[in-house]
Amino acid sequence: MLTPPDPFWLRAMQLADIPAVREVDRLSFPTPARAGLFEHELDGNKIAHYQVLGVAETIIGFAGFWLIADEVHVSTIATHPTWRGRGLGELLLLNLLFQAYTLPATMVTLEVRHSNKVAQALYHKYQFAEVGSRPRYYRDTGEDALLMTVPLLNARYHQFLENQQVKLLQRLQSEA
Ligand SMILES: CC(C)(COP(=O)(O)OP(=O)(O)OC[C@H]1O[C@@H](n2cnc3c(N)ncnc32)[C@H](O)[C@@H]1OP(=O)(O)O)[C@@H](O)C(=O)NCCC(=O)NCCS
Repeated sequence: MLTPPDPFWLRAMQLADIPAVREVDRLSFPTPARAGLFEHELDGNKIAHYQVLGVAETIIGFAGFWLIADEVHVSTIATHPTWRGRGLGELLLLNLLFQAYTLPATMVTLEVRHSNKVAQALYHKYQFAEVGSRPRYYRDTGEDALLMTVPLLNARYHQFLENQQVKLLQRLQSEA
């Protein structure tokens, strides 16, 4: 787990975090996670790994992934709207990528709404490539999903992550 500068912190999600996580989730997605989903992910899904991001006493973001064979699939990532645009979504993604790298997973995949240009920009920044599309993947709006992946197991990408970490932690430190 990365250690961001004070007052931010990252750790594994716990059951007691779920009410705060659900609030960020509700503010972040067109259709919030169904009741009981996070409880199941933490207690009943052995392949699931979830992290929370906090500032002081408050949870302001979270991310989750499933390890399927040797691939990591990002299941969710969100920051509280009040805290967006400060590098914190990037912190959650970078932390997830380091976790994936050390498992070790060979690649990371995810789905993102075609209209979600902000999230796509974040994934492009981390060298995810668009490899396909899943028609009408999102049942709430009928929107297509863009499938994006990045291969992990190469030294150059690991060096890129290390460099990004230095830059991002400096940014968070200077803006804290
Ligand atoms: C996607 C999300 C997690 C990004 O978090 P964030 O804290 O706002 O993002 P950051 O400040 O860390 O920005 C990281 C990068 O994202 C992209 N980005 C962030 N805000 C952006 C904006 N308004 N316009 C375009 N790109 C943007 C940029 O590439 C940015 O890098 P930069 O700082 O070098 O420009 C956040 O917007 C969110 O929770 N959205 C709702 C939930 C969601 O859509 N999750 C993704 C599901 S696939």
